[in-house]
This record gives sequence, C-alpha cells and structure tokens, in this order.
Amino acid sequence: MTTTQTFRAAVVRTPGGPDAIELVDLPVRDPAPGEIRVRVAAAPVNPVDLAVADGYFHGIGLIDQPDRTGLGWDFSGTVEAAGEGVDLPVGTRVAGLVGGFDRDFGTYAEQLVLSASDVGLVPADLDLVAAATLPLNALTAAQLVDLLGDGGGRSLLVTGAAGAVGGYVVPMALERGWRVTGLARAADAEFMRGLGADFTAAAEPGWDAVADGAVMQDAGVALVRDGGVFVGVQPSAPPASERGVEIRVVGVVPDGARTTGLLADAVAGKLVTRVAGELPLADVADAHRLVAKGGVRGRWVLRP
Ligand SMILES: NC(=O)c1ccc[n+]([C@@H]2O[C@H](COP(=O)([O-])OP(=O)(O)OC[C@H]3O[C@@H](n4cnc5c(N)ncnc54)[C@H](OP(=O)(O)O)[C@@H]3O)[C@@H](O)[C@H]2O)c1
Repeated sequence: MTTTQTFRAAVVRTPGGPDAIELVDLPVRDPAPGEIRVRVAAAPVNPVDLAVADGYFHGIGLIDQPDRTGLGWDFSGTVEAAGEGVDLPVGTRVAGLVGGFDRDFGTYAEQLVLSASDVGLVPADLDLVAAATLPLNALTAAQLVDLLGDGGGRSLLVTGAAGAVGGYVVPMALERGWRVTGLARAADAEFMRGLGADFTAAAEPGWDAVADGAVMQDAGVALVRDGGVFVGVQPSAPPASERGVEIRVVGVVPDGARTTGLLADAVAGKLVTRVAGELPLADVADAHRLVAKGGVRGRWVLRP
C-alpha cells in the first residue's frame, strides 16, 4: 500500500480576514532540479499577509487562484531534500523569501519547496526565529536603497522608520552617504537614535528624498522638495508625481546571495532582528489579529 505524505499549511480559500484562514493538509512533493524542500522552522507575519487574507490583492486582480491562496512570504528552516544540481546538504540552515502574490503555497507551512537560489545561509550564531524576520524586509530595504543610490550628503526622510522595512532602510541609507531622518511615533525616538539617524514625529516638507515605509503615498510625495526623489513600497499603486518629483517604487525580488550577506550583517550587528513573539502555526488567526491592532515592533513569528 502506498501512503501519500502530507504537510500542514495555512491558506485562504475565500478571503475575509483572520477568520478566513484555514489549516489544510497538502501533499508533500519532491524538489525539481534547482529546488530544495525546506522544513520550515519559523515564518513571520507581515502586513502583506493581512492584506492577502483580507482579499485586497484579489480585489485588484493580482491574485487569481482557483482553489486556495498561500500565506507567508519569508521563513527560516533546514534543507530536507535537494533537487538535481543543488549543492546544499540536508540539514543546511537557510532563510529566504517567496515572492509574488498569485500562488497557492506560502511560508505559513510545515514545509516549502522553492528555488535554491532564493535562499540565504543562516550563520551558526543566528537563531532561526531571528533569522526568519529578516529576508523580506531587509531585502526590500536593500533594493529600495538601490533605487535611491548614493546620498552624497543629501537629506533623506524615512517614513515608518521604526517599522520592519524602514528600520532596515535607515542603516543602509546611512551607509550610502544619506543624511537620514526617521519619521516615527514619539515612542520610537530612542530606537531611531540608536540606529544613528535623526528623529522626527512630524516632518516638514523639503527633503531631497523620501523613502516611504509608512505608505503615506501622496502625503509622502508632498514632503519631497521640488525635483527630488520619492521611493514607494506599493508597486501596484504608485502615487502621482508633482513638482518634478521622481517616483520610484520597490517590488522585492528574491535574491539568495544577497540574503546570505544580510544574515551575516545581522550577526555582525549592522542589522537588528526584532521578534515581537512566537505562536504555533495553529494560532495563525490570533497572530493576524495581534498584528492588525497596529503598534507592533518586530515580527510575530509562526512556528509550524
Ligand atoms: N514593495 C515591496 O516589495 C514590499 C516589501 C515589503 C513590505 N512592503 C510594504 O511596506 C509597508 C511597510 O511594511 P513594514 O513591514 O515595514 O510595516 P510595519 O513594520 O508595520 O511598519 C510600518 C511603520 O510605519 C509606522 N507608521 C505608520 N504611519 C505612520 C505615521 N503617520 N507616522 C509615523 N509612523 C507611522 C507604523 O507605526 P505604528 O505601528 O505605530 O502604526 C510602523 O512602525 C507595508 O505596506 C508592506 O506591505 C512592500
């Protein structure tokens, strides 16, 4: 008799907020050439997951799944099986990100099959829960700062600077020579100064560039000086330009080699990993409710 092995994953069939999230059993599959199967150790809850569960991306036509939509973007775990041509031994500790919206699988799962080139290596000194909080948001920040380029002493306002993306943009932009001010809540002032940036809770217009981690959109563009640069985080909804402000928008793309470097930066103390708390995968709806309340610093992490 043959038995089909299965694993548990959290998905939405009909979106509708946390109550719409279901745990389902899915068949295990072997990795194809170039792929690995990972036993997931930790998967953070990111704002994008709340929007997927709410049906926002179904509503704008970015998700068109016939049966179910996978939840979860980044993860950490260990390699369980490797396809042809992959040089990652079983047991290797990895972390990475699954990009794109329209998919029937995600990282809120006991296991995951993905391209080996999309994962980074987790250094021995970094625990897997902390590592899981980094790939999506540090890689987004790195690719956002690529869009900014070198600062040469110019002024940059990072909105949502105490958030996951903003909190990584700040040190990366400082390293690229920007004069960085973080716009965040009053309670975040100490965190911001700890990153080496100036802090404001209410920004005036006139910045050479704005990096919009708080998704202020038009209100963020209004803070840029005439002819300056705005970098947004919503590729599906870029704000309109005004006064010659150049609009750029980051859409994160998986990059295993760069993720390895970012994970090493965390061990070196250049990047901070922040864990708000851990919950078992079965409590995924509660995790979404906690994040939906707002004001969370660091990531809630699901443990399959
Ligand atoms: N395009 C891409 O590839 C990509 C990749 C990753 C993330 N994203 C998007 O980027 C956005 C940020 O993600 P994230 O993970 O950094 O979210 P996050 O951790 O929730 O951070 C957002 C931060 O903005 C703060 N904030 C909101 N409005 C503010 C205001 N008016 N003044 C000061 N601070 C304000 C929030 O504070 P409170 O919590 O106190 O409200 C929070 O600290 C999300 O929309 C996410 O979906 C896009």
